[in-house]
Amino acid sequence: MVTRALDVILLGPPGAGKGTQAKRIAAAFELLHISTGDLLREEVAKGTGLGIQAKDTMNRGELVPDELVGQMLAKRLHSQQAALGCVYDGYPRTTAQAVLLDGLLAELNRRVDVVLFLAVADSELLARLTGRRSCPSCGAVFHVVSQAPKASGACDLCGTALVQRDDDRESVVSERLRVYREHTAPLLDFYRGRRILREVAGEVGPDEVFQRMRDAMGSVKA
Ligand code: AP5
Repeated sequence: MVTRALDVILLGPPGAGKGTQAKRIAAAFELLHISTGDLLREEVAKGTGLGIQAKDTMNRGELVPDELVGQMLAKRLHSQQAALGCVYDGYPRTTAQAVLLDGLLAELNRRVDVVLFLAVADSELLARLTGRRSCPSCGAVFHVVSQAPKASGACDLCGTALVQRDDDRESVVSERLRVYREHTAPLLDFYRGRRILREVAGEVGPDEVFQRMRDAMGSVKA
C-alpha cells in the first residue's frame, strides 16, 4: 500500500513547546523533524559562512533573512529522509516563508496537511525559556523546574554539561515575543483561511499536550 506523505507545521510563540512536541510527532508518524532554529545553531557552532551571518541576528532575537532559511529548508525537503513527510518546527515564520514552503511542496506534489498552533500565555513562556537548559552535544532539552535532569547540570542522555541558550536571556526573550507577534502571528489567519489550523492548549504537561496534538491530527492522518 502506498501511503501519502504527511506535512505538519507546529506554530507557536517562542517556548510554546514546538521542539519538545516535534520530536514526539516525528517519532510517532515517522516524519523528518525540520527545526530551522536547530539547523541555524549547528551552522553557528561549526562557524560556517551562514552561521557567522546568522549569529548576531539570533542573539538579538530577530529573524534571519528568509532567503538564507529557505535554502536550508529546500535542502532538507529534497532529501530522502523527507519522503514520508516532515514536521516543521520554527518554520514558516513569515508569510513569504509560508509561500515558499507551499511552492517547494507543490514541486513534490504535496501540500501542508495540518498546522498545529500551540497556545501558551506570555508569563508561562518566559518561565519556560529562562529555565530551559540544552545539551550542546546531543540536543536534548531540559527545564530547571519542570523537566530537571537527574544529575544537576548534566545531560541525562550523554552526560555533557548543559548550557543556556544565548537568546533565552530575559531581555532577548521579550524581543523574540515582539518579533513573533509582528511577523509570525499573522500566519494564524493565513492557515485559518485554508481551514487547516488546529489550536491546541499548551499549558499542561508534555504528555497531555502530545495527546491533544494527536487528537487534533486525527482527521488528517494519512
Ligand atoms: P528557534 O530555535 O526556532 O526558537 P523559537 O521558535 O523561539 O522556539 P524555541 O526553541 O525557543 O521554543 P520551543 O517552542 O521549541 O519550546 P521547547 O520545546 O524548547 O529559533 C531561534 C532563532 O533562530 C530565532 O529567534 C531566529 O533568530 C532564528 N530562526 C529560526 N527559524 C527561523 C526562521 N524560520 N526564519 C528566520 N529566523 C529563524 O520548550 C521550551 C522549554 O519549555 C523547555 O525547557 C521545555 O523543557 C519546556 N517545556 C516544553 N513543553 C512543556 C510543557 N508542556 N510544560 C512545561 N514545560 C515545557
